[in-house]
Amino acid sequence: TWAALFVGGHLTLSCALFQCDLLNIEALKAIGVTEVVLAINYQPEVMLNFLKEFETKLEIKITCSQETEPLGTAGPLALARDKLIGDSGEPFFVLNSDVISEYPLKQMIDFHKAHGGEASIMVTKVDEPSKYGVVVTEESTGKVERFVEKPKIFVGNKINAGIYLLNPSVIDRIELRPTSIEKEVFPKIAADNKLYAMVLPGFWMDIGQPRDYIVGLRLYLDSLKKNSSSKLATGPHIVGNVLVDETAKIGEGCLIGPDVAIGPGCIVESGVRLSRCSVMRGVYIKKHACISSSIIGWHSTVGRWARVENMTILGEDVQVCDEIYSNGGVVLPHKEIKSSILKPEIVM
Ligand code: GDD
Repeated sequence: TWAALFVGGHLTLSCALFQCDLLNIEALKAIGVTEVVLAINYQPEVMLNFLKEFETKLEIKITCSQETEPLGTAGPLALARDKLIGDSGEPFFVLNSDVISEYPLKQMIDFHKAHGGEASIMVTKVDEPSKYGVVVTEESTGKVERFVEKPKIFVGNKINAGIYLLNPSVIDRIELRPTSIEKEVFPKIAADNKLYAMVLPGFWMDIGQPRDYIVGLRLYLDSLKKNSSSKLATGPHIVGNVLVDETAKIGEGCLIGPDVAIGPGCIVESGVRLSRCSVMRGVYIKKHACISSSIIGWHSTVGRWARVENMTILGEDVQVCDEIYSNGGVVLPHKEIKSSILKPEIVM
């Protein structure tokens, strides 16, 4: 039996889990993970409402490990110690919840077994490494020589992808207090010559920022097209790669795509145009609305003839009235938008 831990605040886990893609948990299940633990520090009750549904859908045990204060990226491992260390002494996976990528987890297990160290991490190449944890490895073996979180000067362009396979002994290195796996744990394992890095084949994106989230959605749908294209929507009203949850309802005469994901229970009325956007669970889009390059949060409503574009982000339960225009508005949850947002700004 294998276990896995997702580290994430409520929001990042929501992004990872509340959309119709559950590919990270599906990938874990596919290689024999039997229990997934969500490490959360905020609003556990919101998450708990969804757990049962995911458990049934994916036939995997999902539990929460709730912090009373944010424990950083390492502290949650100490908190979930008993759940992660089973009787078998087998390694467990840890995933940052705000990344999307391919998950070659079987290859990671083989890599981990072959090097015999204490911890394996996935790495990927990026153009702007200073925003991430940079990993310098010995080319032939993958042994990590240095792990530098958010370096100020250039150390290399291979970065920590936020996907780890750890031996139970790693938890012995972590105290139950707010602490960072990147700054306090990985550098020490590397100094003991027991940290190894595997280059992640395929796409990877940190989706913590809205613009990156939309790029991540495109990369994910591209990869879905290559690997299991039957999951993508088809028909005369579909352009490019589009994912529509089976419980969503789409009206007549819509044009949807490219790069759109529509979550469970959404209602899209007739004549709607959607492109490059993520429409979360329970959203209601009224007739002839047009949405592009935007994220529509859970249970929001977009009115008739509304035009929502240019990285507009609607939080949960936002009501956009009929005929409104939003140019890059970032709208906090539970707001009603009665006048147009003409330039990118936060609406509190
Ligand atoms: N439960 C819990 N509690 N989760 C947390 C906490 C906390 O106190 N703090 C951070 N996290 C979660 C975040 O929600 C995210 O999923 C993950 O831990 C990483 O934390 P971030 O604070 O988002 O770090 P980052 O994105 O700047 O950098 C991390 O990810 C990069 C890859 O995207 C680091 O792991 C980098 O080394 C890595 O390159």
